[in-house]
Amino acid sequence: MVLPQIKNICCIGAGYVGGPTMSVIADKCPYLSVNVVDINAQRIQDWNSSNLEDLPIYEPGLDKKIEKCRNINLHFSVEIEKHISNADIVFISVNTPTKTKGIGAGKASDLKWVEACARQVSKFASGHTIVVEKSTLPVKTAEVIKKILEDAELNSQNKSKTTFDVLSNPEFLSEGSAIEDLEHPDRVLIGGENIEAINVLSEIYLNWVPKEKILHTNIWSSELAKLTANAFLAQRISSINSISAICEATGADVREVARAIGSDSRIGSKFLDSGPGFGGSCFKKDILNLVYLCEYFGLPEVAKFWEEVIALNKWHQHRISKLIVKTLFGTVTGKKISILGFAFKANTNDTRESAAITICKDLIEEGAVLSIHDPKVDTCQIEKDLGIKSSVNSEDPLTDKTFDSKGVWNYAKTTDESLSGSDASIILTEWKEYENIDWLKAKKIMRSPSWIFDARSIVNTNEVKNAGLNLWRIGDGSQI
Ligand code: UDX
Ligand code: ADP
Repeated sequence: MVLPQIKNICCIGAGYVGGPTMSVIADKCPYLSVNVVDINAQRIQDWNSSNLEDLPIYEPGLDKKIEKCRNINLHFSVEIEKHISNADIVFISVNTPTKTKGIGAGKASDLKWVEACARQVSKFASGHTIVVEKSTLPVKTAEVIKKILEDAELNSQNKSKTTFDVLSNPEFLSEGSAIEDLEHPDRVLIGGENIEAINVLSEIYLNWVPKEKILHTNIWSSELAKLTANAFLAQRISSINSISAICEATGADVREVARAIGSDSRIGSKFLDSGPGFGGSCFKKDILNLVYLCEYFGLPEVAKFWEEVIALNKWHQHRISKLIVKTLFGTVTGKKISILGFAFKANTNDTRESAAITICKDLIEEGAVLSIHDPKVDTCQIEKDLGIKSSVNSEDPLTDKTFDSKGVWNYAKTTDESLSGSDASIILTEWKEYENIDWLKAKKIMRSPSWIFDARSIVNTNEVKNAGLNLWRIGDGSQI
């Protein structure tokens, strides 16, 4: 039964978390008015675009939700004050990047956006408001929010009384499957002190999530559980990637090892695909947060343990760049290399912390001419990530007199364009369309001898080999 007072929701932050999460809440709870606000007017304009192709983020199934609910009970707006003031529940879903300077630089999260939100809520909220931390935040952030809000409570004694509850409700969605994850979550975690407020938030989820999947904890456990989940998942990727290196050195096959260990129900089979190294906005940031907390609380050994997960990930990415250079006769200077995939994983246009960034930078540093293709990432984003403008397409850099052996990159609109004239192709994102490449045709348009480096284990190995192409696969020791 829905508590009668909950009518209006305001979500501050229209990003990768706020947008999809609120779209699903609006869809599942038609009786609620869901208002997503952001300081970024362009982003809001994109969310309101009549052309669903222009939505600021790409997620399978998101466009359908937007089409169904937008301007009915789901609104995207820059009117932050108005929607905070009307809201019964305010979700804080703003970005929390790693601090670049000051205390904790390089590790701690920069909470200035969260603090700014808390201050806005304290200023504009009216009546009783439940404030929900949705962004992944370091443990004890709720305390900061609470302090700011408690101050507002005290100062509101003279005007109409304003009161707050603070809850932690971390989001576990994965990009690329955000809508599916939100509709069928493994669990919904709600941490807080006031059981009534917890129940109010639970009622929203109960519209589509079974009761036994809604977990109640104290607020700090909830905050720490989110960091821990991401740290464990990242650690699993670094573990299997470390094993891929041993496989390559010894003649084992990482896919077989993963299948063998994954059959142990205690280990489980998910999240054991060796790849080019984990990316995404959360894993590295959350581990760094954990490391910072450990150091802060005087636990250097624990900090070191988790830091290694990130170090291994970086090492693994550079390892791949190095072996590509080594395989291509020790030099890639002036060679055209096709890069297939730039997003940190398939089904998203997000490139944050993508392994492709490190690997492409390494190869450009070595003088390669990269031809980068990704079905969802555009030229501007790649320019931002690499910090280098795209060059004019140079068909044959080795005979091009103007070529000065400095690495460059350009954007390929199709996989054929990327493959044409290249010495090697590196598959870095597991996009479905790369599974279906016609390798016989590729062989004809690439420069011989040609190599395919499959860092995602998605190609049909027989088709590639039968086409006369050399194949390297991550963690495949049969290549030695
Ligand atoms: C992650 C968590 O999964 C999610 O619960 C949390 O809310 C946010 O962080 P996300 O970053 O969207 O989600 O992507 P995820 O699917 O976890 O993948 C992270 C990285 O690990 C990607 O680069 C992916 O390619 C890589 N990965 C994942 C592997 O290399 N192998 C695997 O088996 C799984
Ligand atoms: P996430 O992946 O956590 O969703 P994003 O960077 O995709 O992070 O989105 C966060 C959004 O929060 C951005 O669109 C940003 O403009 C918005 N934002 C940050 N601070 C504020 C604020 N004080 N008020 C409103 N919106 C904010």
